[in-house]
Amino acid sequence: MSQQRPVSRRGFLKAVVSLPVVGALVAPLVAGGQFVYPPASLSRGPGKVAVPGTGEVKVGGHLDFNYGGEPHTIFRVSDQEYVAVSRVCTHLGCTIAWQDGNSFFECPCHGARFDQTGKVLRGPATSPLNRLKVTIANGEVFVEGGEA
Ligand code: FES
Repeated sequence: MSQQRPVSRRGFLKAVVSLPVVGALVAPLVAGGQFVYPPASLSRGPGKVAVPGTGEVKVGGHLDFNYGGEPHTIFRVSDQEYVAVSRVCTHLGCTIAWQDGNSFFECPCHGARFDQTGKVLRGPATSPLNRLKVTIANGEVFVEGGEA
């Protein structure tokens, strides 16, 4: 037969107070760890997916689409060549827009510019836009996460 010891008021209060303190200390470490080591599902994206409507884009044209919850644009460079880039600015993450008249992406937040391959044309961004791998099969255009 086991004897149960009554929990003292002091012991109970220590437990109640220490749990939030431990949580407050551990939570930033967990959040920071996810920033430094993002979950594999984020870095890989949703895998290989078709981009509907891409076949109708004329050479020199482009189409906006979403991949992995992020805005992207695909350009038709030639009959059988496409380039797909993220429209998330690599400076601080604003959504950028293609400027048809000027033929570059421009960020509305701090003015960074990128060409259609994602190369930085003007800071403050220093890293190129993320590119997707593009493949064509049976007349359909597919994109896939990872560097093109
Ligand atoms: S977020 Fe795009 S230039 Fe700063």
